[in-house]
Amino acid sequence: MTQTSDISAEQTRLALKRPDLLREAAYVGGEWITAEARIAVTNPATGRVLAHIPNLGSEATLQAVTAATAAQGDWAGRPAKARAQVLRKWFDLMMAHQEDLARLMTAEQGKPLSESRGEIAYAAAFLEWFGEEAKRAYGDVIPGHQADRRILTLKQPVGVVAAVTPWNFPAAMITRKVGPALAAGCSVVLKPSELTPLSALALAVLGEEAGVPKGVFNIVTGEAAPIGEVLTTDPRIAKFTFTGSTAVGKMLAAKCMDTVKRVSLELGGNAPFVVFADADLDAAVEGAMASKFRNAGQTCVCANRFYVEAPVAAEFARRLAGRAAGLRIGDGLAGETDQGPLIDGRAVAKARRHVEDALAGGARLLTGGTTLDGLGAFFAPTVLADVAPDALLTREETFGPVAGITAFQDEAEAIALANSTRAGLAAYLYTADLKRAWRVSEAIQSGMVGLNTGLISTEVAPFGGVKESGLGREGSRYGLDEYLSIKSICLAVD
Ligand code: SIN
Repeated sequence: MTQTSDISAEQTRLALKRPDLLREAAYVGGEWITAEARIAVTNPATGRVLAHIPNLGSEATLQAVTAATAAQGDWAGRPAKARAQVLRKWFDLMMAHQEDLARLMTAEQGKPLSESRGEIAYAAAFLEWFGEEAKRAYGDVIPGHQADRRILTLKQPVGVVAAVTPWNFPAAMITRKVGPALAAGCSVVLKPSELTPLSALALAVLGEEAGVPKGVFNIVTGEAAPIGEVLTTDPRIAKFTFTGSTAVGKMLAAKCMDTVKRVSLELGGNAPFVVFADADLDAAVEGAMASKFRNAGQTCVCANRFYVEAPVAAEFARRLAGRAAGLRIGDGLAGETDQGPLIDGRAVAKARRHVEDALAGGARLLTGGTTLDGLGAFFAPTVLADVAPDALLTREETFGPVAGITAFQDEAEAIALANSTRAGLAAYLYTADLKRAWRVSEAIQSGMVGLNTGLISTEVAPFGGVKESGLGREGSRYGLDEYLSIKSICLAVD
């Protein structure tokens, strides 16, 4: 049983300049609501409870859908420029409170403070970008199919949007959906992860201050099942958007089909990181560090399988292990760190299972492979060489700081290995040969390719996958289309 004094000690450690950004209530129809049933939010670095949030069920979720439905028409009726002004103000407020938002994020999610600051800027950028884009959501005038006919197209908001977001990016995965939805003229009911709801609730505080009208943005907190049931089946919801695991995404998408909702899914990845012998090895190691160890390996786009051409495989592994061993691990609120805890004990157990399986299959441990002492869910940055091509860590997304390296002989083998899973989100490729760069980029089955770079995420580029990694695109000008319907008007001119 967690003592109230422990919770207040965790909250004091946050040292927020705006303590009111920490909310222990959900946000429905512009009101902050509580419930008797509550869920504890735990700091994964200390294992201590940080706050409690309401465990709302289907009734409160229906209320939120009602509020969003009532608010949507007025919001959609405002000029795009007016909606953009609200989003721009929300962006400004997020940046003005970047430090507080980052500290909250580190406390509930565990990522280093520098990464949390970066995520707040990344998250805010989606509000700015989509506010601007919505002003340019043009339709067409199409030459008619008969002499006396003209065809016009309008882009209209799809309606009420339900969004379900994960714990690994507690702010950016929200604004990447809510930014385009609000910009397009939709209202939103959001269910953030119950592991990291505090960032979402802080965003709502700032959204309200920015002038988001009551009911346009609602947050329902609680366990997934009853909330998800309403959000996937209520006919008033026109669009369902989800970021999370492939297994859960498939199940939710199937439920949405009864009411034929528009669905976008950003699901699991299992990114190959391919290094050819002609590559700049320093750059490849740098990119591998950024891709693999960002957020302790808990990103859908992080490198999960390293394929390195045989002549440079040992040297790449040696250099990567040296860099990984130097990462500073710890509680991001207690000092400078490069890697925080994993989200919970289950995540640690999975990383350990993947390492053990690789070792049983003949891999060599170059660094890490261990949990760390203390209360938190820490797992050391790990590098394994000589990993078998069918090891568990190549077949499943590890979602942890484990890099397993497999050597390949030629380009054809590299492509075959890269394409050997049902996932197709991101892929990374290092080579100095321009022709090969094109060939392999085109041959790899993924929605995104990092070509001589390990970081690909930005609000200006389309983000999304092929195969079982998802449907639709987020970010970029394409991300707005997910929240717009095309209506065609056939006009008789005679
Ligand atoms: C994700 O892990 O789903 C998102 C990662 C990113 O936006 O870079």
